[in-house]
Amino acid sequence: MFPSLPSSSFLFPLCLLLFFFLLNHSPPAAADPLYQICGKTGNYTGNNTYASNLNILLTSLDANTSLSGGFFNATVGQTPNQIYGLALCRGDTNASVCRSCLDTAIQDAPNLCPYYKGAIIWYDYCLLHYSNQRFLSTVDTSNEILMYNINNITDPSRFDKLLDVLLSRIADWAAYNSTEMFATGEMMNSTKPPFPTIYGLAQCTRDLSRSQCRQCLQGMLVPRPTLFEGKQGARVLGGTCNYRYEIYSFYEGKPTLRLQSPLETAPSPAPTPTPARRAPPLITPPEKEGKKTNVTGMVLAIALPLLAAFLLISIICICFWRRRKPVVRLPLRKCLTIVLKLGALSVDGTRPEDIASVESLLLDISTLRVATANFAEENKLGEGGFGAVYKGRLPDGREIAVKRLSASSSQGFGELRNELVLVAKLQHRNLVRLLGVCMEEQEKLLVYEYLPNRSLDTILFGIVSSSTKI
Ligand SMILES: *[C@@H]1O[C@H](CO)[C@@H](O)[C@H](O)[C@H]1NC(C)=O
Ligand SMILES: *[C@@H]1O[C@H](CO)[C@@H](O)[C@H](O)[C@H]1NC(C)=O
Ligand SMILES: *[C@@H]1O[C@H](CO)[C@@H](O)[C@H](O)[C@H]1NC(C)=O
Ligand SMILES: *[C@@H]1O[C@H](CO)[C@@H](O)[C@H](O)[C@H]1NC(C)=O
Ligand SMILES: *[C@@H]1O[C@H](CO)[C@@H](O)[C@H](O)[C@H]1NC(C)=O
Ligand SMILES: *[C@@H]1O[C@H](CO)[C@@H](O)[C@H](O)[C@H]1NC(C)=O
Ligand SMILES: *[C@@H]1O[C@H](CO)[C@@H](O)[C@H](O)[C@H]1NC(C)=O
Ligand SMILES: *[C@@H]1O[C@H](CO)[C@@H](O)[C@H](O)[C@H]1NC(C)=O
Repeated sequence: MFPSLPSSSFLFPLCLLLFFFLLNHSPPAAADPLYQICGKTGNYTGNNTYASNLNILLTSLDANTSLSGGFFNATVGQTPNQIYGLALCRGDTNASVCRSCLDTAIQDAPNLCPYYKGAIIWYDYCLLHYSNQRFLSTVDTSNEILMYNINNITDPSRFDKLLDVLLSRIADWAAYNSTEMFATGEMMNSTKPPFPTIYGLAQCTRDLSRSQCRQCLQGMLVPRPTLFEGKQGARVLGGTCNYRYEIYSFYEGKPTLRLQSPLETAPSPAPTPTPARRAPPLITPPEKEGKKTNVTGMVLAIALPLLAAFLLISIICICFWRRRKPVVRLPLRKCLTIVLKLGALSVDGTRPEDIASVESLLLDISTLRVATANFAEENKLGEGGFGAVYKGRLPDGREIAVKRLSASSSQGFGELRNELVLVAKLQHRNLVRLLGVCMEEQEKLLVYEYLPNRSLDTILFGIVSSSTKI
């Protein structure tokens, strides 16, 4: 059974993916929401004060936001039924685009999050956020949606360097120089070797102070999610700030900032293996000048220190690389709930993107330890090739199954991440649902819905086994 695992556990998801794709393939309307997070602060019933306050709030946001330059916040009602809200349009939209995006948002909200007291709904051109809890003027780090363009970039390390520069400049500008707390920018393409122009955008909600805005963007930019590694474009949508980049222009009008690749003018810092390649030019000049005298000595005098330096650098690099690897590969700083949705399309409707929603941060390691009585033997449901599975109960009563990947597990972070993306794409009522993932300390934990009737091997052996039926 085991040797056949990879193929069987891979074939099946592929079929399902196709199935999903066919189901969802109807092209979305231009103004479909990118994502929504329904509030966790309670529900209201159909016909009460809260409902009517919400109505007043939404009407006010709709009416006033486009008139007040693309941002408006409001508070409606008295304490038990008080409701806070804000609406933000992307800084490059004009009033009519802004208004029409919010019209849609306000129509969608009751259907997307019915009877929820709060919601955050993201669109390409606007953001709508309301809640019964005061959230204005504070940086929101708990609601983050990660989306990426599934196309790969050819030279990720070069791309990353340029992107770092571009995004940090854009974030600075949005925070400190823009009255709208919005900035766009271009990192011009270079010619040697050819490299695409990178386009970026960053924005904060204007209830934040300038330093809060920078802090909000900084939290999303550093470190950049590893899900984005090697991708041509990506965005992080947060409750109070967001950014996006692509290798095509996706915003209206001229960029706020036009940057020239810093790698173009300065001699590019040598990637690790170049010392060997750099050696010949250093040695050849003497030969060209025709001074045959003492060539061997000269070559030795140059080559030996060079060789020593090369060895030293290699050793340092290898050590560094080894030590840094787990840190760099660690996909998520905390334990996160990942929900991926398949088949969303971005602005121009042609670039498929994967969406990862990084929602509640409830699944930290201590919660999971409590839930499973510190991975007690009596909670063990079984043991598989990759590690043991424990039954647990979250504070909110939900029963979970926690797969604890053994420290010696052959699943590296990269493979794990790919499996997570895969399984998260396959959210389906007949599949074991992945609730979260926790990577902290030395632990790699996968948290599933506990389904008493589900055969254990769906969790134990690989992520999705072929025994699960559609
Ligand atoms: C609110 O209602 C939704 C269904 O409309 C339900 O899934 C959710 O659990 C409810 N939340 C609370 C806090 O009652
Ligand atoms: C809400 O309540 C009002 C009276 O308070 C009533 O006229 C209306 O029909 C109710 N609407 C719904 C949807 O229940
Ligand atoms: C916002 O719009 C509402 C209409 O829904 C209006 O009554 C209100 O005065 C407006 N508020 C501001 C500050 O313009
Ligand atoms: C918008 O939020 C700010 C900061 O919280 C607050 O001072 C202001 O009164 C709010 N505006 C409205 C119309 O509620
Ligand atoms: C607003 O922008 C859209 C596209 O960005 C454009 O089609 C429309 O004509 C603009 N409207 C006004 C009033 O400028
Ligand atoms: C991008 O690269 C990953 C592996 O690095 C691969 O699985 C994926 O299919 C590639 N995507 C495209 C669109 O080529
Ligand atoms: C942008 O803001 C920074 C910090 O406030 C300031 O030092 C800089 O001069 C500003 N640049 C422009 C062009 O206004
Ligand atoms: C670089 O930009 C120029 C226009 O500025 C464009 O013509 C060219 O195709 C771009 N090259 C690449 C590789 O994207």
